[in-house]
This record gives sequence, C-alpha cells and structure tokens, in this order.
Amino acid sequence: MSATAGPLHIIIVGASGDLAQRKILPALFSLFTQGLLAPETNIFGFARSPLTDAEFRQRTAEQLTCRYTPGQHDCAALTAQFLARCHYVTGEYHSGDAFLNLAQRIHAVTGRLDGHRLMYLAIPPTVFLDVAHALGNSGLVTCDARHGWTRVVIEKPFGRDRASSDVLVTELGKVFTNEQTYRIDHYLGKEVIQNLLVLRFANRIFEPIWHRDFVRDVRIIWKETADIGQRAGYFDNFGIVRDVMQNHLMQMLALTAMEEPDRLDATDVCNEKVQVLRAVRPLRIHDLVLGQYAGYRQNPGVPPNSQTPTYAAAVLAVNNSRWQGVPFIVECGKALDQHVAEICIRFRSAARNIFHKQLPVLPPNQLVIRVQPDEAIFLRVVNKVPGLHMKLEPTELNLRYRTAFTGVIPEAYESLLLDVIAGERGLFIRADELAASWDIFDAVLHATDTGKIQPEPYPIGTSGPAVVTQLLARHGVAE
Ligand code: BG6
Repeated sequence: MSATAGPLHIIIVGASGDLAQRKILPALFSLFTQGLLAPETNIFGFARSPLTDAEFRQRTAEQLTCRYTPGQHDCAALTAQFLARCHYVTGEYHSGDAFLNLAQRIHAVTGRLDGHRLMYLAIPPTVFLDVAHALGNSGLVTCDARHGWTRVVIEKPFGRDRASSDVLVTELGKVFTNEQTYRIDHYLGKEVIQNLLVLRFANRIFEPIWHRDFVRDVRIIWKETADIGQRAGYFDNFGIVRDVMQNHLMQMLALTAMEEPDRLDATDVCNEKVQVLRAVRPLRIHDLVLGQYAGYRQNPGVPPNSQTPTYAAAVLAVNNSRWQGVPFIVECGKALDQHVAEICIRFRSAARNIFHKQLPVLPPNQLVIRVQPDEAIFLRVVNKVPGLHMKLEPTELNLRYRTAFTGVIPEAYESLLLDVIAGERGLFIRADELAASWDIFDAVLHATDTGKIQPEPYPIGTSGPAVVTQLLARHGVAE
C-alpha cells in the first residue's frame, strides 16, 4: 500500500468538541476541496455526546467554509460530498468496547479495517492514556506496514510539568511507536512561523546581525482580547504558562534563536531546536510576572479563590555565545488590549548620532515578524521625511502578506494534517524537545502551583499587570 494513496480512515476522538469542530474538520474539508485527500478517505468522529450521523454532519456543516473554491454551486456540492464521508460513533473514552464498536463501524462503512489510520486525539490530556489504551486494544493500531500506516496526533499540553510529561511519553509509547506519534503545536503550522527559517537562512543579510553584537533584545508577544470563554474547566487546570508559553512561545523562541541546521530535514531541525532550548536558563521566579484578569474567578467553573494565571511575562536568558546577555522577553495573556502574535527583534542603536539636531535620540531598528493578525514582516528604520527641511522619522519597510501575495493563506491545521498524511515529521514536537521546554518552566510552575507566586490582578482590555514595567526595567528593556 503506498504511503499516501489507498484507503485512509481518519478517526477523530473528541469529534463533538470545540477543537474538532472549529479547526480539524474545517481543515480536512479544505484539503478535500483541493483534492488533497485520497478518494477512499472516510472520517470517523468518536465522542461521548450521543449524536447520530445526521446530527454530526449537521453540526460539522455549520463550521465549513469553501475558502479555496468560492463558487456557490461547487461549494454546496463539495460540502455534501465531504459530509457523506463523515460518520459518528458515540462512546466513553475509557471503554474498550466503545472502541471495538468504532472498529466495527469502520469495517461496516468501508468494508475493511486495513488501510492507513490517522487517529487524532482532540481530547483533554487527562483522558489521553485511557483513549490510547482503548485504541491499542481495538485492533486499529498496527505496525505492520502491509496493512497501511497508523499515526496518532496528540495536542498540547503534553502533561503538566516535566515529570508528568515524561510519564505520558512513556505510557503512550507502549501503544504507539515514536514514528507513529505526532505531537502537534499548531503554531508550527502557521505560515509566518514556517517562514522563519527561510527568512533567516535563505537571506544572507540577516545571519551576521542575528547576534548579541547587534541585537539588544528579542520580544515574543502573544496577546488575545478574548477571555477564556467556555473553556474554564480546561483553562483553570492549566493556566497560561502551560497553555501558551511553554509550547507556542517556546517554539517561536527556538526557531528565532537556533543555529542553522545542516539540512532541512526533521532530525536536523529538531536537533538544533533542542540544542537552543537546552541553552535557555530555567526561568527564575523573580524573572516572571503572572497576572489574572479581573472577573476571571466569576466564570462558571472557576473556583472563587483560583490562582490560575491568565497572563505571564518572563525574561529568559539563552546561554550560548550567540545570545549571551540578550534578554528574551516572552509575554502572553488573555483579555488584553490587543489581539496579536509577533516576534520583535530590537537592534542596538547607531553608535554615533550625526543627526542629533534633527533627532536627539535615534530609535533602534526593529525587525517585526507578525504571525497574526494580518501576517507581515517589517523593518523599522529611521528615514528622512520628504520635504525641503531635514526631518527624520521612524518608518517601516513593510511586507504585508495580504497585499504581497494573492493566494489563500492556509490555516495551520491544514498544513499540519497534510504533513501527517505525508509522514512529514518536521513540524511536530520530538520528545527531547518537549522535555527541554518543560525544564525551563518546571521550577516556576511548581512555585505557582504551591502558591509561592500569585498572579497580579489586571483590568480586562489593558496591557496586563503594571508591574511588568519594573521587570523589564530590571533587564534594561524600555517598553
Ligand atoms: C491554543 C490555546 O493552543 O491556542 C488557546 O489553548 C489559544 O488558549 C489558541 O486561544 C490560540 O490559537 P490561534 O491559532 O487562534 O492563535
């Protein structure tokens, strides 16, 4: 059976949930509309909610948009064809029988159990292992390539700290081999993030200045205006450091700070990411500010005395010869003043200022890599304002994706699912990489869990707790 052609059974465990409905099924639909799913592909949703196939299809249909085929007629036809391939099985996550039932259903619909099997665990981490064991006993997991490949996709957070993550890796390893396991961090599928290595290593101009001699500080900022919405049950258990900082922000940091890999293959890229993550000094308590937005504790499902942070800002040090002494400021939060994710590299100012009469202080050049919204890469430079007088102003050399490129910008999950189907592992998290990024946060997470660090309150719609200014000032970083 060829690696990508042939029957493909996609099993989504947690199919009635938010992630499956909002991200995974629409991404599969986009691949389908572009002819990127093999003709014999079927999707089997599995979850606890008792739904019929018709109800599942109806729910799924509400989330589908034809981003690549805008014609009304084509869109309706494609939607109907896609939905006809969607099936649903109700069952409890720990029930071996329920997964046997799922296997029977796959057989009943497709006439076979062999074929490629992609299993997406879109479920809370607390039930990963139950599901993995039940899948393992269902006969759906096989290592025999004659029956097609088996691949399992799991979503972060992978554990709560280094120790629990190690246990998860070991236990999942009893059911799925390393090669079968795809740990997803969907930020790696985002277009601008995928461009980071290209920007750095396909453009000779950046490499010499990507260094402590030229860079003053690096800021990785992730802000949402939205609050935790309906996700209290999950969020209160994990908090923003585990939800965003330990994974999405550390991946951005790794790709920004790593050395050039020997080759562009999964092993070499991952080796370099691991190397730089290991060079990050474990975060110290006094280099971290935590916040919690006002009203967070009033969310249904949040305990009235919850100390879970919804905001975090940290100053990290990368202890290697390239970055020694350059502060890496990572910041993330919910219910803030802006919706943005970007990497901002601030360079040192010019050594002399011959324009001091026009501009007493030269602002530093900044390279901004904006992941979202409105994907862009721009360089802030000082420029003469056209006119008869010498007036200088900071301005931007700007590459805005929406104006520079005409094609549709793919959603992260589209790229990642396509890679899983193709067996491309480069955008997935390796176990040693995971361990290295937990190691950075283990001490502060334990301190938070035991109440040694408490979140500062901040009003909704602001830039976060005011004390962050002091943290930055201590590291010589002006806002
Ligand atoms: C998820 C987090 O991983 O990423 C959420 O669990 C967050 O809390 C989401 O809202 C943001 O993803 P995106 O792609 O909308 O930026």
